[in-house]
Amino acid sequence: MSTTLPLEPIEKASRDELAALQLERLKWSLNHAYENSPVYRRKFDEAGVHPSQVQSLADLARFPFTTKKDLRDNYPFGMFAVPQEQISRIHASSGTTGKPTVVAYTARDIDTWANLVARSVRAAGARRGDKVHISYGYGLFTGGLGAHYGAERAGLTVIPFGGGQTEKQVQLIQDFRPDIIMVTPSYMLAIADEMERQGIDPATCSLRIGIFGAEPWTNDMRKAIEERMGITAVDIYGLSEVMGPGVASECAETKDGPTIWEDHFYPEIINPETGEVLPDGEFGELVFTSLTKEALPIIRYRTRDLTRLLPGTARTMRRMEKITGRSDDMLIIRGVNVFPTQIEELLLKQPALAPHYQIVLTKEGPMDVMALNCEPCPETAPDYGALDAASKALAYDIKALIGVTCKVNVLEVNGIERSVGKARRVIDKRPK
Ligand code: DLL
Repeated sequence: MSTTLPLEPIEKASRDELAALQLERLKWSLNHAYENSPVYRRKFDEAGVHPSQVQSLADLARFPFTTKKDLRDNYPFGMFAVPQEQISRIHASSGTTGKPTVVAYTARDIDTWANLVARSVRAAGARRGDKVHISYGYGLFTGGLGAHYGAERAGLTVIPFGGGQTEKQVQLIQDFRPDIIMVTPSYMLAIADEMERQGIDPATCSLRIGIFGAEPWTNDMRKAIEERMGITAVDIYGLSEVMGPGVASECAETKDGPTIWEDHFYPEIINPETGEVLPDGEFGELVFTSLTKEALPIIRYRTRDLTRLLPGTARTMRRMEKITGRSDDMLIIRGVNVFPTQIEELLLKQPALAPHYQIVLTKEGPMDVMALNCEPCPETAPDYGALDAASKALAYDIKALIGVTCKVNVLEVNGIERSVGKARRVIDKRPK
């Protein structure tokens, strides 16, 4: 008989207990960064701050931010705060241009990471005896190995598939009968399509839980995946600079945004223009400070992810609202700010259209032009009338609700490129 897995005491500790632990760890982390990383020492000195001045969690706001540029400027290993022989693993995020962002872990960091992904998997509703199919990419990307060690730490059976070979993914899901899948939501859809192509109804497969992350996805997408796959879908969040997957993760009992594992990562929300710290509940850019990381302490890291902090529900720790997008993903079309997730929400309201999409930006003279490429659902593909009506209704909704004119192109089934990891939502063809 399978049973749910127990929580750690800190997950149910009081806010006061949590804050006391955070303050003690924050002092350690700032001190560690200052003493062992010349880059942080210089940054703190230049800002005129010293770890010994920290008396409360609010004092963190006096410290300078860290950005991706700091990591790039000190490529590859310049920000590490332990000697090379203490580093047990390196990961890197590819980024779209230039050099990758390189991150490192001591054996203890790897241990903490496994514990936090294990916590995330338990929060998703894992039970003793569950099998976990992992389709996040293995390698320098933190998704595969991060999920892998966490699921193992939770005591589950791991199937380390990795990304790609979609036909084979389906075969092994049919044959091995996993209970849980960890994958990007966009690649989950590609796997579901492949099941249908093979004549398998995805809702009849063995999966009970999907732990989806690494890219923005809306609650409408959650509902669509849950219904189609017959699973519970939860959101796992993370970034390599802060650790990898499992910085925050959603609890199955509430599904109301990822709970931030605040005993290891201290969150702040700032106004991205001014850098001012905003109160809980207000929207802005998410900033993280690591509280226990050894190899690469990260102090006030500007994630560029936009969200807000919400009070804890299933746990004492605070939640973040499901991410609407990154400031880098925000499109400004004729003066209107648009996030791909806003388009996703409206697309998912059209049952004749499939949930795959790409936004294409071009220029006509000085003006930006936005088009949305999408696909019919296989069942509606032959019904031109229904597709025409759906594309018109979608263009109307985009204009009415977001405020931009958008040409909706319905391509053929499978007309949108399928990614095996993070989906590419925007193709920018505007001349630079
Ligand atoms: O994507 C780590 C990860 C792997 C998270 C697997 C979850 C599952 P990076 O490649 O460094 O790390 O990309 C981090 O991806 O700043 C967000 O913009 C985005 N992101 C990650 N998780 C979510 C999520 C991994 N649940 C960047 N919702 C982050 C929205 C997400 N965006």
